[in-house]
Amino acid sequence: MMRSTLASVVAVALLSGCDSSKDYEGTTGTIPFEPQRPSSGAPATVAPYTGSDPLVLEAQTRLPTGLDLQRKVVLRTCGPTNGVCHNQKEYPDLHTAGTFTASINAPCNLQPGTYASVYDRCERLGDRFKLKEQSFREIEIGWYEVVLGAYVEYEDDEVPPSDAAGLHLYLRDPVPLDKGRAHWGTANFLRNFINAQDNVETLSVANYNTRWWVLGDGRHLFGEVRDYQRDSVEALQAIGIIEGDQNRNGTFGAREGKSTPLLNPGKPEESYLVARVRGHMQGERIPGSRMPLANQPLSVPDMLALMCFIEGLDPNANEWNLSSSIDYAGCSYSANPQALNVVGAGVTWRERVWPILQSNCGGCHGGSNAQMGLDLTASDAYQRLRAASVQSPNLKLVDPGRLEQSYLWLKLAGDGSIVGSRMPVDPLDGTRTLPPDQLESIQTWILAGALEVE
Ligand code: HEC
Repeated sequence: MMRSTLASVVAVALLSGCDSSKDYEGTTGTIPFEPQRPSSGAPATVAPYTGSDPLVLEAQTRLPTGLDLQRKVVLRTCGPTNGVCHNQKEYPDLHTAGTFTASINAPCNLQPGTYASVYDRCERLGDRFKLKEQSFREIEIGWYEVVLGAYVEYEDDEVPPSDAAGLHLYLRDPVPLDKGRAHWGTANFLRNFINAQDNVETLSVANYNTRWWVLGDGRHLFGEVRDYQRDSVEALQAIGIIEGDQNRNGTFGAREGKSTPLLNPGKPEESYLVARVRGHMQGERIPGSRMPLANQPLSVPDMLALMCFIEGLDPNANEWNLSSSIDYAGCSYSANPQALNVVGAGVTWRERVWPILQSNCGGCHGGSNAQMGLDLTASDAYQRLRAASVQSPNLKLVDPGRLEQSYLWLKLAGDGSIVGSRMPVDPLDGTRTLPPDQLESIQTWILAGALEVE
């Protein structure tokens, strides 16, 4: 039966090096650490662009420095009340010049809304786990979960279910311990740090003493949480154990060696912020909706400023001055700024908009009995949308570039001016809206001119 003298201790030892083990193999990739604060040193000046491309000239005039970029472009994407930046946790806080500079080389997705919205290339090296009383080597933590619920007491030779209330750790490699019984032991959570001498040091960030069971294929560890241990587990969560496979998809992003920061000095194509605006990085879709969600999308000169700003950041520096001029003359993107167009990119009628309408609206707006004569499944659906609304004949269903004049949009947004219900009607309880990413796509498509072709 249970021992009553179990002690569980969570010790935070960020600064003092207990249990420094340097024999861990297989650690690749970079070790994340806090970026340096911005410097206020003299801003760099560069030779101006003297070519004739009006888009480059516009960018150079309107957005000459990183500071202008932050104030006029980045801040705008945060919305007038910082809405997007603050509502959506997975967006970094970029609303001051200081936080913008701090995003250079900083890890992305630190506060995701949900684990599934984390991009593999934002994952960091996970903390490592070992049991002090056992000799097996440290194993990287993929993710962990505290399953809430009333405490259930399992016998030592009983195997708890895989969703038992308690602490679940999902590890990168199997734990080489007998699966059929409990193992009493002190879990040690280990993390790498850079010390004052610039050396990598392994420190123990937390301990948790309990009974452990090895479940499933050996990579799932279950730690018992008795009522008196709850505080210890809460403290463990508060420390923020770093998960190597935060999005739980089996890929340990940092180990692939392709970790990307928010802003990657010299490498705009591998900057998470740019990828969020584009919706993809180097051809790979990234999770989450495209930024900016609710505001005016970035124009070509905006994008050019962002790309040239990042390209011009010295990767070997650790301080950057936002007042420095953006080097449009030396920027590789100045040769073909049109290629940076993100407005409507990927959001085409055929690939994106029509499929959304067909699957969400076709049930009522399809076939011979289409509601209000609006058949969104017919081959002439696009032409039909360019015509006037029946309910509000002064408006077209879709008026290119003019959201508030597009009756279809007003019906989707539930605008106060509409006749009848917000769309789509839910036959069961009448309340349904399209998910934000679909609404965003339709919005972007209309704003970008509601084209029928690519
Ligand atoms: C469950 C049935 C149902 C679904 C699903 C549905 N609608 Fe409707 N729709 C109606 C009905 C009924 C009306 C007329 C009454 C009203 O407006 O409330 C209507 C009216 C409309 C109108 C007004 C037409 C005009 O010419 O003025 C538009 C636009 C519209 N719907 C768009 C959509 C879109 C876009 C979707 C999918 C996102 C959708 N609807 C999904 C039933 C539905």
